[in-house]
Amino acid sequence: MAELSVAHLLGIKYLNRDDLELIFETAAQFKQVINRPIKKVPSLRDITVANLFFENSTRTRLSFELAEKRLSADVVNFSASSSSVSKGETLVDTVNNILSMKVDMVVMRHPHPGAAFFLSRAVNSVIINAGDGAHEHPTQALLDAFSMREKLGELQGKRVAIVGDILHSRVALSNILCLQKLGAQVEVCGPTTLIPKYIESLGVSVSYDLDHTLAHSDVINMLRVQHERQHLRYFPGVREYSQQFGLTRARLEQAGHPDQVIMHPGPMNRGVEISSDVADGPQSIILNQVENGVALRMAVLYLLAAKQEVPAPAETPLSV
Ligand code: CP
Repeated sequence: MAELSVAHLLGIKYLNRDDLELIFETAAQFKQVINRPIKKVPSLRDITVANLFFENSTRTRLSFELAEKRLSADVVNFSASSSSVSKGETLVDTVNNILSMKVDMVVMRHPHPGAAFFLSRAVNSVIINAGDGAHEHPTQALLDAFSMREKLGELQGKRVAIVGDILHSRVALSNILCLQKLGAQVEVCGPTTLIPKYIESLGVSVSYDLDHTLAHSDVINMLRVQHERQHLRYFPGVREYSQQFGLTRARLEQAGHPDQVIMHPGPMNRGVEISSDVADGPQSIILNQVENGVALRMAVLYLLAAKQEVPAPAETPLSV
C-alpha cells in the first residue's frame, strides 16, 4: 500500500506531490463512505485520538471529531479554557498526561506558530496540526485544493487568488504552498498593510486591486479580516475595507466570469469581505468545502495511523 512520506501532519511544507495525491485519492474514497446510509468504517477501531484545542474553532474541531468517529476511533476532546492549563501546566506536561491514558494520536490547534512542530519533537505520538497561530493550517489547504479539483479538475496552470488579510492568515500560507505543489499560479490581493513585505519571494504575484484580480482568476478564495490578531489598525475602517476588498455581486458581474469559483474557509464576516448574495450564490462552494473537510480529515487520520504500528486489539484481563 502507498504511504505518506511523513509521520506527522505539521504543515504543507513537509508534504510532497505524491503525498498530496495519496491524500486526495483516499479522501475521495472516504467521501463515498460518508455519503452512504451507513457512514462508518472500522479503520481506526482501537485507536484513541485526542483533540486539543487551545484556540476557538467550529469547523475544524467538529470535522476532526466527526472524521474520527466515522473511522470508529475513540475520541477525547480537550479545550484549554476548561483545563489545568489555566493553573500553569506546560504544553508538554499536559500532552504527556493525556498520552499516558493510552492516547495514540493528537490533533492540536494552538495560537503559537510552531507549536505542533515543537510538540512532535517533545512527545511520543502522532501530531496533526489543526492550525498554529498565523503559520499553517494544513488540513484547510488540503480540503480547499480537494474542493477546487472537484470543480475544476487538475489545478496545473489554474489561477487562484487569495484575497484579504494575508498577513495574519495561516490559511494563506498553507494554500500558497499546496497550490504551488499542484502547479497552480497564485495571486494574493489585499491592502498593502495586510500583505507581508516579502511574499513575492514565495513565487506569488501581488495585487492591491480586487477588480483587476477578479478579471483574470479561476478561483477567488476570500479570507476573513482577523480582527483578533490585529493589534494595530491596518485600514481606516470596516466600510473602507469593504468598499475596496469586499466581494459583491456587482463586482462579480463586472468581472464577467460566471464559472469563477468562490471560496471562503470560514468563519465569514458577512458584509465585510463577502456579501451574503455572493456567499450563498451559485458560484460559491463554501459549504462544499466544509463537507469535504470531514472526508479529507478521515484520509489524513487514516494514512497517518497506517504509518504507525497500529496496536493489536488488546485482550482484556477478563478474556480467557
Ligand atoms: N476554517 C477554520 O479553521 O474554521 P474554524 O476556526 O471554525 O475551525
